[in-house]
Amino acid sequence: MIEYRSVTKQFPDGTLAVEDFSLVLPSRQTTVFVGSSGSGKTTLLRMINRMVDPTSGTIEIDGVDIATLAPVNLRRSIGYVMQNSGLLPHRTVVNNVATVPLLRGVPRQKARENALALLDTVGLDRSLADRYPSQLSGGQQQRVGVARGLAVDPNILLMDEPFGAVDPIVRAELQQELRRLQVELDKTVVFVTHDIEEAFLLGDQVVILRTGGQIAQVGTPSEILANPADEFVASFVGADRGKRALHFENHNGSDILVDSEGRIAGVIETDAAASVPPPQSVSESKAGSVSGSGAPAQGGDQR
Ligand SMILES: Nc1ncnc2c1ncn2[C@@H]1O[C@H](COP(=O)(O)OP(=O)(O)OP(=O)(O)O)[C@@H](O)[C@H]1O
Ligand SMILES: [Mg+2]
Repeated sequence: MIEYRSVTKQFPDGTLAVEDFSLVLPSRQTTVFVGSSGSGKTTLLRMINRMVDPTSGTIEIDGVDIATLAPVNLRRSIGYVMQNSGLLPHRTVVNNVATVPLLRGVPRQKARENALALLDTVGLDRSLADRYPSQLSGGQQQRVGVARGLAVDPNILLMDEPFGAVDPIVRAELQQELRRLQVELDKTVVFVTHDIEEAFLLGDQVVILRTGGQIAQVGTPSEILANPADEFVASFVGADRGKRALHFENHNGSDILVDSEGRIAGVIETDAAASVPPPQSVSESKAGSVSGSGAPAQGGDQR
């Protein structure tokens, strides 16, 4: 469990990025921070692995104040996936994935084996292992970024707009893959996006932020959709615009997120078994754009 207690971050130039933020992020669930540009999402995320330290307040992981932990060790024990994958251009795919384990002293051969297994986990063919990032598509690069985030088998995975830079179809594939991984790996995920549909698709807990890291509303997607806290949230979820008004419809046991024009924005499966998407599904909707990578090779041997 991650807990923010009255956390404030003021940058040296006076910018108040986050003010008096308190929230519990439950273990083994996905919390999504969603809000417009400058609302403090990245700052909130980076305070968890001490890339940014709060000006006041504390953050605890499983009851331990992270200010008492060495930042480098903390950072190496938490997965971090950034926008544009953040891959090292002069290292091969497999070496990108193995970077942090190697830094932590894992023997080269073992690190390579683990990295190859992680390529399977994220649905990448092992034949790509010795390519350089520039020789991959944008979506493949993002998958490598996710594999790298998982490489130290972290309990916590931080993801900062990881799918922001890819086209909508690939983005939908990556979202579905992440949903599969959430069930398979059972990590505590903190995900940042400015896309409310992505937030509702991926979040167990969704936190809608205004400027200054102010919580406009926190809840499950259905709670927020059913009962927007105020005008700000209502307009954010599109409830008062008609056009994008999102709502859930239940079809054959799956909750489907639908916009007001009947377009499917995503599928929320109701049990773990149903959450592995079929290899080929409706091609028209986002929900159907699943990858055909099928069963993961790693099974349930990771958290
Ligand atoms: N190093 C810094 N120095 C000064 N101000 C900063 C710094 N980093 C961020 N800020 C400011 O803090 C506020 C929050 O920034 P943050 O990066 O957390 O926003 P964000 O919600 O992630 O935005 P985006 O969606 O654009 O990524 C912004 O006003 C930003 O300009
Ligand atoms: Mg940001």
